Amino acid sequence: MSITRRTFLGSSALALAGMAATGKVEARPVSPQNQSSPKRPTVVSSRNGIRGVARAYDLMTQKQADPLDAVIAGVNIQELDPEDQSVGYGGLPNADGVVQLDASCMHGPTKRAGAVASLEGIATPSLVAKAVMDYTDHIMLVGPGAKRFALDMGFKEQNLFTEESRQDWLRWKARLNPHDDWLDHDDDVMVETPTGTINMNGVDANGNIGSVTTTSGLAWKIPGRVGDSPIIGTGQYCDNEVGAAGSTGRGEANIKICGAFLTVELMRGGMSPQEACLEALKRAVAMTEDRLLDEKDRPLFSLNYYAVSKDGRYGGATMYQNPQAYLEEFPERGAYSVANADGARHEPFQFVYENSEIPAYMQGRLMLRLKRLRKAKK
Ligand code: GLY
Repeated sequence: MSITRRTFLGSSALALAGMAATGKVEARPVSPQNQSSPKRPTVVSSRNGIRGVARAYDLMTQKQADPLDAVIAGVNIQELDPEDQSVGYGGLPNADGVVQLDASCMHGPTKRAGAVASLEGIATPSLVAKAVMDYTDHIMLVGPGAKRFALDMGFKEQNLFTEESRQDWLRWKARLNPHDDWLDHDDDVMVETPTGTINMNGVDANGNIGSVTTTSGLAWKIPGRVGDSPIIGTGQYCDNEVGAAGSTGRGEANIKICGAFLTVELMRGGMSPQEACLEALKRAVAMTEDRLLDEKDRPLFSLNYYAVSKDGRYGGATMYQNPQAYLEEFPERGAYSVANADGARHEPFQFVYENSEIPAYMQGRLMLRLKRLRKAKK
């Protein structure tokens, strides 16, 4: 691993906490202006959770909602929004054109957890995960069993495959093989495999914590593929004594480091949420197999962490700073969502690598995504 001090932004509390991940990667401190101050309630989420953090915050402050109920109500907005193709209704499907959803949640005060994976036909897997937590002695249900359970619990089955997602899937299929009988679209925007997901973590005025992650997973995945989101300790994790954390991005990279659990444990060891998120990313790089590293040992994928501590500090970190064009045209793309007494807003991610250091392969993917964003804006 040859990541330099200049290249890598990380955490200085690492050495203090005595929890160095690998000993191979030098780290730069998080600047003081990027550290949040204790404030409760606080809700932190991925970029797409901007409406959700506002809802969760309002529920906790105005209705004294339980923190888990509040964050689930927050992510329900995206699950039910057909325009968010990374989650719930309208999520991008697997290779067979079937939308399969994953979700998990944890409730800090009662130390309980629930999860579902490869769930079909139910738009709100976060609520099904909570039902697993509330009504069974199990933690995870998958596939047809998860669906049968949801139907028994009164969830309504619906077709999750929207026309827009179906068109995207057809475009992806058509371009898979230049020698087959499908005519390629001139529009290449779906060649990349988008990941999405929403993670949300909230701490209420009393310091009680809830966390949830929900997703349609990797677009075009092999049917049955389960990502990180429904795995407790990976997609999200919550310890009421410490804080909560969760992830979006390449699930396969996160699973190998139990990233949400790791982030919470780093906070327990003394790191701020911001420092812990950066350190988790560093661990993910250290655990990346060679085929997913460029010639300078930089990962060929993106990954993000979000965290909140029991005292209401928060943080968010991503692998790569966005290219300049994104920063200018879509600044929220390099940001995560926060709500506390200062309001609901996007805050810029801390990042591991500056945008001048994005590998060519990643640049290509990001430019395709930019093309898609510009098209959607028109
Ligand atoms: N992080 C979402 C997924 O990989 O499925």
